[in-house]
Amino acid sequence: MIEQAVLNKNSSDTEIYVSLLPQLESIISPDDQVISVLSNITAILKEAFDKISWVGFYLLKGNTLYLGSFQGKIACSSITLGKGVCGYSALEKKTIIVEDVANFQGHISCDSGSKSEIVVPIVSDGIVYGVLDIDSYSYAAFNETDKLFLEKTVELIIRKIDLEKLKIIII
Ligand code: SME
Repeated sequence: MIEQAVLNKNSSDTEIYVSLLPQLESIISPDDQVISVLSNITAILKEAFDKISWVGFYLLKGNTLYLGSFQGKIACSSITLGKGVCGYSALEKKTIIVEDVANFQGHISCDSGSKSEIVVPIVSDGIVYGVLDIDSYSYAAFNETDKLFLEKTVELIIRKIDLEKLKIIII
């Protein structure tokens, strides 16, 4: 387990993600509590990118996504499956990039300053466990590079965490 993330903010997003992936891998330990692991992932991502205003996990139970570990301002504590960008991503089981949240019908605004976002679903064997949701105060802050590396981040979570434990965080 690393004690401090090593980051070079003058690098390109690709370079930052490439340096982050092994660090993320080292903090995703099956020996740690999943709540701790998810919290550290949000912390490292928020620290790495100034463009991120909010980063967090919503975890699915039944038909509802419940707010899990996050970094940023207070946020909506639950989202119905299919609603908002998070609910749509979880329902469709695909990553959604929104360049301007005003143009996404049904976008749920937790912070009026938020302008764009990316949501990556956590899906294993066709089962949705939740989503990784990242917001920005800039328009079109996220692109295919973010999609590629955030999906790799979620793949790490799927590979290294006992996903059944994600289900029991939400009582
Ligand atoms: N924007 C999200 C809601 C969650 S907040 O951004 C933290 C959505 O429409 O799904």
